[in-house]
Amino acid sequence: MKAEQRRHLTNLLRNVIYELTGNYYPDERMKILEYKVERLIKELRLDIETPEGIVSYFLQSEERRKLLIDLMTVPETRFFREREQLEVLFDDPLKGRTLLEMASVGCSTGQEPYTLAMMMEERGIGGTVTGMDINEKALREARAGVYRADELKDIPPEYRRFVLVRGKFLEIKPEIRRRVRFRQVNLVEGRDFEALRGRFDVVLCRNVLIYFDTRSKETALKNLGTILRSGGILVLSSTEILGREFQRLFESFKCGKFFFYRKRE
Ligand SMILES: C[S@@+](CC[C@H](N)C(=O)[O-])C[C@H]1O[C@@H](n2cnc3c(N)ncnc32)[C@H](O)[C@@H]1O
Repeated sequence: MKAEQRRHLTNLLRNVIYELTGNYYPDERMKILEYKVERLIKELRLDIETPEGIVSYFLQSEERRKLLIDLMTVPETRFFREREQLEVLFDDPLKGRTLLEMASVGCSTGQEPYTLAMMMEERGIGGTVTGMDINEKALREARAGVYRADELKDIPPEYRRFVLVRGKFLEIKPEIRRRVRFRQVNLVEGRDFEALRGRFDVVLCRNVLIYFDTRSKETALKNLGTILRSGGILVLSSTEILGREFQRLFESFKCGKFFFYRKRE
């Protein structure tokens, strides 16, 4: 495919991905998208000549749409990512809580919900953690609860008793797995969140909305608001700040150096 056609294909896919997932590839990330598209065509050995043909190939069935979504979302994560923010969350706004329903939306391969479950277990807090993501492949790995042994380095020594290292693999122990469940959702689909209305005390959505634009972010935040009980806490990554335009949904408050967001009544 010529360079011009490839650019056209990338532009078409940019729109499709946005419509399907709310993830928007701005101009400065187009190179990444181009690279992913190239890899995709090679991997699938697609013998389709035109950009429009390739796009309609992906839109032809639910199965192929899922494949595109799995390949185009960014699954990067790790255990105890931004640990200090999580410690502040448990030690300040959640201090004294003995029972919590927590959600990790955009949980990728599960390290974040398992981290939360370990922190709850360590503190004697009851309740469960629900990990949610759009990416089916990532959710399959999350449900398996088996990781590369070298991920042990991300787990602080006092939490390592919750995992088992067997050769090249690290397994999450049953007492933690049992507290975590997984569910497929699309942050821009309101109906995925209706059934969970008011269910959670805390919802984490870290390093996810950075890939959204203002419009899709607004839809996603409304959906996150739906599943929080009123007064519940939304946690974004410490590098993400909720703009003023979203503050009618959530009120920000600061603990130490971190901002958190409380769902308005
Ligand atoms: C970079 S990972 C963040 C993982 C974890 N929250 C963390 O901070 O380590 C972003 C995740 O958001 C998910 N995601 C992207 N768009 C989504 C959508 N529309 N609905 C649900 N999940 C989505 C991706 O599949 C990916 O697993």
